[in-house]
Amino acid sequence: MFDINKIDSALKYCIDKERDNIPIFGGLYPCPQSRANLYDAQTNYDWTNSFYSGMLWLAYEMTKDECFKNKAKEHSRDFRSRIENRLDTLETHDIGFLYSLSCVADYKLTGDESAKETALMAAELLIKRFRPEGGFIQAWGSLDDDSNYRLIIDCLLNLPLLFWASEITGDNKYRDIAVTHAHTALKYAVRDDFTTYHTFYFDPETGAPSRGETCQGYSDSSCWARGQAWGIYGSALAYSYTGDESFIPIHNGVTDLFISRLPGDDVPYWDMVFTEGDEPRDTSAAAIAICGILEMSKHIKNEKHMKAAERMLASLIGGYMTDKITSTGLLTDAMYSRPNGDHPECNIWGDYYFMEALVRIKTDNEWKMYW
Ligand code: GLY
Repeated sequence: MFDINKIDSALKYCIDKERDNIPIFGGLYPCPQSRANLYDAQTNYDWTNSFYSGMLWLAYEMTKDECFKNKAKEHSRDFRSRIENRLDTLETHDIGFLYSLSCVADYKLTGDESAKETALMAAELLIKRFRPEGGFIQAWGSLDDDSNYRLIIDCLLNLPLLFWASEITGDNKYRDIAVTHAHTALKYAVRDDFTTYHTFYFDPETGAPSRGETCQGYSDSSCWARGQAWGIYGSALAYSYTGDESFIPIHNGVTDLFISRLPGDDVPYWDMVFTEGDEPRDTSAAAIAICGILEMSKHIKNEKHMKAAERMLASLIGGYMTDKITSTGLLTDAMYSRPNGDHPECNIWGDYYFMEALVRIKTDNEWKMYW
């Protein structure tokens, strides 16, 4: 059982922190990761700014305090300008992350027509990255760059934008691409033992599957913890949107594997090749995995998974919240990219998924997703 008093006080802590952050960030956004647990500010580029918008919407839902809505609506206008001007939107699949948590959330919560139009523009742009020969959405780079003919497991969280676009327009072209991509990604990025590849390449000529490779993990044959967590949440979302039962064993397999590699305090190391020792952890992977387990629990009760989610959340609250230090973030010890030389810091998606997990519990998991 989740300890509801601890959930309440952690959620209050998050909401108060985001209220304090509004004047700190002004018209800008927290950078993807902090420096000494304080976020620098950045303009609207890169893949992560909407996690801040998403936290503002969560805080608004929990409090109805207009300060959160007003700031989040500024973001919706800024995200419209970003897509109209094609600012850092042409060489990435991450417009799903960007527009689900900003404009889709705005439309779902306030019925804002401009936010709806903006998110539909984003969906239109995202489907241009679909590679029909391989049946996947190309993650990075320009579409004529054969060296980038690959998917990454993270993309599963970009698909809800497409499911939403089909619901809104009645045109199944978005959904069809999302379903095809989900099947391709979960077939090739998930290995037989339910560990995962971060990225998977296809032959640019024929679309035939080629090879798995890491980018942010320890090695091509290891299991990057956040990728595994994207697999947990992504497979749950794929099942929620399609009801296709072939996603269930995949979800169960990747979740069992994640749980089996957790160290004593139930927060994973940054790569699941490590199960003990001094390697840094990745709290953001735990937060994403908790949300994925909670999403799947709406359909199928799995006691082992729920107990693990409870332990992970208790450990995040008790051991990794920023309540004892000076910080503009919510969770310490998140890892962006160890191969790039990063160190444990707060990161903005770890903060967002932590808050989403708390809101899910607070609402008895009846929270209506922005995804
Ligand atoms: N989607 C990129 C990451 O998880 O770092």
